[in-house]
Amino acid sequence: MLTPNRHLLQIEGMHPPEISALLDLAESYVLLNRSGTTQRDLLRGRTLINLFFEDSTRTRTSFEIAGKRLGADVVNMSVANSSVNKGETLLDTAATLNAMNCDLLVVRHGQSGAPALLAQKVEASVINAGDGTHEHPTQALLDALTIRRRRGRLEGLVVAICGDVLHSRVARSNIHLLLALGSRVHIVGPVTLIPTDAARLGVTVFHDMKAGLAGADIVMMLRLQKERMTGGLVPSAREFFRFWGLDAEKLAFAKPDALVMHPGPMNRGVEIASDVADDPIRSLIKEQVEMGVAVRMAVLDVLSRRAKRND
Ligand code: NCD
Repeated sequence: MLTPNRHLLQIEGMHPPEISALLDLAESYVLLNRSGTTQRDLLRGRTLINLFFEDSTRTRTSFEIAGKRLGADVVNMSVANSSVNKGETLLDTAATLNAMNCDLLVVRHGQSGAPALLAQKVEASVINAGDGTHEHPTQALLDALTIRRRRGRLEGLVVAICGDVLHSRVARSNIHLLLALGSRVHIVGPVTLIPTDAARLGVTVFHDMKAGLAGADIVMMLRLQKERMTGGLVPSAREFFRFWGLDAEKLAFAKPDALVMHPGPMNRGVEIASDVADDPIRSLIKEQVEMGVAVRMAVLDVLSRRAKRND
């Protein structure tokens, strides 16, 4: 939660005006980035540590770029080389980070709740960059910004979130954000990959692409998260693509001008066909990456103002 908290741990519980204010600020950073200028005085003298216990390309890099564009000293702590592998606990890591006077801590962890635990123990502002199957708040913010810029609003839009919803922190954060801002959310996927309590969240559940995509303004595909699956939840990649993979034929079930999104990394030919992913008119995937930097600048900006030290 962002207010009155100095951390960003989840979208759930955030109020619509505070989400909209963040998106408005991010909008101004899109313009700044496109103009090729930076604002290096904003976080001058502040230290941002990227603490990633799980792989990441887009998220880690965009937090690094965002921090640098605002003038922060950015340190990437590679967990593979850190003391964590020598048995240091998360709380020992927190104590070490405190001693280093880190101001902003960006955390990705395989366990749901790990960033929240760190937030209780460190003096820095903690930003959740993805925790287990729980949430990935900056991804939902950048997705919302991408949609809002293209469609002018979120209210009243139908967004179909498709595929491996069960293991997706991206889906969870998006569901909370989209519903808070007035979108209607369809969740589409096989029974084995949809949380049993999904309908309780206020979404409509479909186990058929044709029905789930009907009337959709946005089709958001998710990666099949094999690393989080314990049993054989899907038959084979080929089978999955046949029933659930987004190709031109299935995209035709949505509105004629429906736009396609994917948080990346993509499994081409598994959840999405290459020609759909690369379609210059229908696909927003590259734009999502651009919005990621702007949204993270906005988040760092807001949190650093809240956490301003007295020195
Ligand atoms: C996502 C994640 O890590 O949750 N990636 C990302 O941040 N863009 C989605 C995924 O891994 O499938």
